[in-house]
Amino acid sequence: MPNRYLIANWKMNLPPEGMDAFLGAMEDADVAVAPPYVYLKDVVTSAPKNVLVGAQNCADQKSGAFTGEVSADMLRDCGARFVIVGHSERRNVYGESDALIARKLALAIDAGLMPVLCIGENQAQRDGGYATAFCSDQLRAAAVPQLANASEVVIAYEPVWAIGTGRNATGEMVAEIAAAIRDALGRFWPADLARRAPVLYGGSVTPDNVDDLLARGEIDGFLVGGASLDSKKFLALAGAMKTRFATQ
Ligand code: PGA
Repeated sequence: MPNRYLIANWKMNLPPEGMDAFLGAMEDADVAVAPPYVYLKDVVTSAPKNVLVGAQNCADQKSGAFTGEVSADMLRDCGARFVIVGHSERRNVYGESDALIARKLALAIDAGLMPVLCIGENQAQRDGGYATAFCSDQLRAAAVPQLANASEVVIAYEPVWAIGTGRNATGEMVAEIAAAIRDALGRFWPADLARRAPVLYGGSVTPDNVDDLLARGEIDGFLVGGASLDSKKFLALAGAMKTRFATQ
């Protein structure tokens, strides 16, 4: 799935139609799926070859006495190819700090997983005019030395106020932040990696707003929650991306 990413973040849910029915429907689509940990192997086994499988989280330690945690190495052993780190639900519900997320990012790279690093401002930061500065700070905090060894790191811009709320960012907002993200990557990250890093958007993406989000050509794909639990909606997003990128 070179450079274009459509990632299903199932969170702590399974598709109501059933996992196998969902995966079967993805036969011809270039998509990625992040199921809950315990279904990872099942999804790796039953997903069509074109589906990239990854995890929603990983531990910030390599191994040891960390009850309830799952290491990046273990995820790779289960067949995961990527891992989401720093999702806003991890940051806000579970109190994960920039420093902890930086450790996860480093371990994911060490394990040979492609990290999908989530960043994004909350409503107060947007209202205060700090959205771009906040995202840029989050990228600076994630500038770990291991980035020099990474073949690819994906950035997912997910404004907290847009996640699961039905209030997506407009295409215009996303284009503005995407440009700021590329600028910050250029300043804080290894040049080669920064140039190649795909930038995705996430937050209430649906088949109804996907065309507006893609229209300005600033983003490389989407990290999708709610609409990724329904194969028809998810395939509609894949179709919109295919059309958009085919015409570029
Ligand atoms: P949403 O979730 O599409 O349901 O807003 C996106 C995400 O949290 O990754």
